[in-house]
Order: sequence, then C-alpha cells, then structure tokens
Amino acid sequence: MNKIELIKPDDWHVHFREGSMLEKLVPETSKLYNRAIVMPNLSVPIINSKQALEYKKKILNFSENNNDFQPLMTFYLNKDISTSDLIEAFENNVVFALKLYPAGATTNSSKGVKDMTEIFHILEVMSNYQIPLLIHGEVNNDKVDIFDREKLFIENELIKIIENFPNLKITLEHITTKFAVDFINQSSKKIKASITPHHLVLNRTDMLAHKIKPHYYCLPILKREEDRKALLEAASNINQKFFLGTDSAPHDLKSKETSCGCAGVFNTINSIQILAQIFDNNDKLDCLEKFISINGAIHYNLAKNKSKLLLKKQKKPIIFPDTLNINDLNIKVFRPNFDVFWQIEKEKKLS
Ligand code: DOR
Ligand code: ZN
Repeated sequence: MNKIELIKPDDWHVHFREGSMLEKLVPETSKLYNRAIVMPNLSVPIINSKQALEYKKKILNFSENNNDFQPLMTFYLNKDISTSDLIEAFENNVVFALKLYPAGATTNSSKGVKDMTEIFHILEVMSNYQIPLLIHGEVNNDKVDIFDREKLFIENELIKIIENFPNLKITLEHITTKFAVDFINQSSKKIKASITPHHLVLNRTDMLAHKIKPHYYCLPILKREEDRKALLEAASNINQKFFLGTDSAPHDLKSKETSCGCAGVFNTINSIQILAQIFDNNDKLDCLEKFISINGAIHYNLAKNKSKLLLKKQKKPIIFPDTLNINDLNIKVFRPNFDVFWQIEKEKKLS
C-alpha cells in the first residue's frame, strides 16, 4: 500500500502559546487538523470566558488557511473559577473543556490545583453539564520518583475523582505507561486517554543513552520500551478508548539547550506523517484513521470531519525542516529515530 485516504484528523491537545509564536503555530495546525483543543497554560492562564474569547478570536485570525478550523478552548482549572461564568461559557461554546494541572507539575502550572478536594465543587458542575475534564496526570511531589508520577497520580488522585464523580467525562492526557493503558482499558466509557506521537515513538533510553537529547525531554517524561509498546498497542486497540493529542509544546532553542531546560516537543508539522510511518512499521496502518480522526470525536460527542487527507508513501525519506524560525526564536522540529516516507499529498473536501 502506498496511498491512504483518511478523514481529516483533529489534535485533541496542542499548545499555541502567544504573540509571534501563536501567529506562526496556528496555521501549521489548521493545515493538518480541523479541530484542536487549545491548552490554557499561558503566562497568564486562561481562567474565564473573557480571556478564552479573546484568545479564540486571535487564533481564528491566524487560521484563515482552513475555514473549517475550530479551536476548542479550555479553562485552566483553579479553585477560584466562577461556576456561573463556566456554565455560561460552556452553553455559548466559548469553553469546551477544563484542564487540570497539579500545581507545579509542568510548564506554567504554578497556579494549578494543590489539593483535589478544593475543586470538587467545580467538578460537580462539570459532571452535571458534561463538561470534559482534561488531566495532566502526574503527582508533583519531590519525594516521588519522576518515572512513577503518572502511576501515583492514577492511584492516589484519579481514582478518588472517579469515585466521587462517576459521571464526569475525563481524558487522561498524554499517557506514558503500560499501567495507564491497563487502567484506561478497565475503566468506564467515561474515561479515555490521549497519546502523543513522541511517546509512541521513543523511550527513555532514546533520550538518555549515547549523550543526552534535550529535544526529547517532555512531561510526562518518556518511559521504558515496554511502556512505549503498550501505548502503540493501545493506539490500535479496537475498543477505541485512545486518541491523538500531539501535545506539541514549542520552546525556543535557548530554553531547551541550556543547563535547566524546559519540557516540550514540537511535532505539529510532521505529526501525521510520523504516525503514518510508525503505524506502517508495525503493520497497523488500517488502525491509523480511528486513532487520529475518529476515536476522539466519539469521546467528545462531535461529528467526524467532512474533508479528507491523502497520504502518499515516497520512495525516499522526507526531509523535514530542522527548525521553525519565528523572528529571533528557533523551534526545533521533532525528529523520530527512523526514516519517514509518508507525505501529505492533498486535501479533499467531501460534500
Ligand atoms: O512537555 C510538556 N510541555 N508537557 C507539558 O505538560 C507542558 C508542555 C508545555 O507547555 O511546555
Ligand atoms: Zn500539553
């Protein structure tokens, strides 16, 4: 097989940032994806409808290359969120979901949640209105080894949330472990998970052996090969509980190649091509469309996209740009540890 036609995908987790980055990043996403859930962890986090609406307007200004593109906005979950503002914003399609960052767990998360019970009154409203909860599932505790933080979050926090709000729609985001895969597989239909391209492709040895690779550093951190294999298996599971969220999270090169570097991988521009290749390498190409274009829409009760993407396998490996340059910022483009032959050929509108 050297050609595939796929329903146009959605990115259920992306960071657009602000200013000149925003301007350059939005059209890169809207070229490949029809919808994207936009993360709220800006330097001043998005916590109300006024901020979400302003941010959404800016995004729509820069996505003119795709008139169908829909940015799905999120609030940054915090105990001070006004529930009346939240309900109104949800009913008017200003906000789509809320993002839970355990305080301090990752980039711009210092205003996140310290104790889960402090947001229970908001989760109650979200459950009643079926507003999705998106979770960065890691405990932030210096006593907990970084490689165990996802497992501990599930055991100590997520189970508590589910027990208290069994009707709440939850996405455990960017899962990284076999433990998380097993947990999602045995959970109710309300609980699903997103997976990033980089966690499907790499393990921690790729990042740490034979000299350290700061551009592979992300959170949750890459895990063992057995975890990566479990993620790949999950992405092609017929139960459709797993879907793509790129977690494309750009940082300027200077903030990555330094003694105290930021977490984040920028993969938007080659995400679909890399996924086609890894599914192909594992004889799973027939499962790709469900993972990138269908399972997420089902979870979020949205219709499938109407346009299609045509991918063609080239004879020679594709050369992707090394960096995306924005004024004086340089963002390293994610580079997998294998050749990529799948290229986006064209887009087709369905009537
Ligand atoms: O690697 C990451 N980068 N993980 C996150 O959770 C946040 C993100 C960012 O915003 O840079
Ligand atoms: Zn993220």
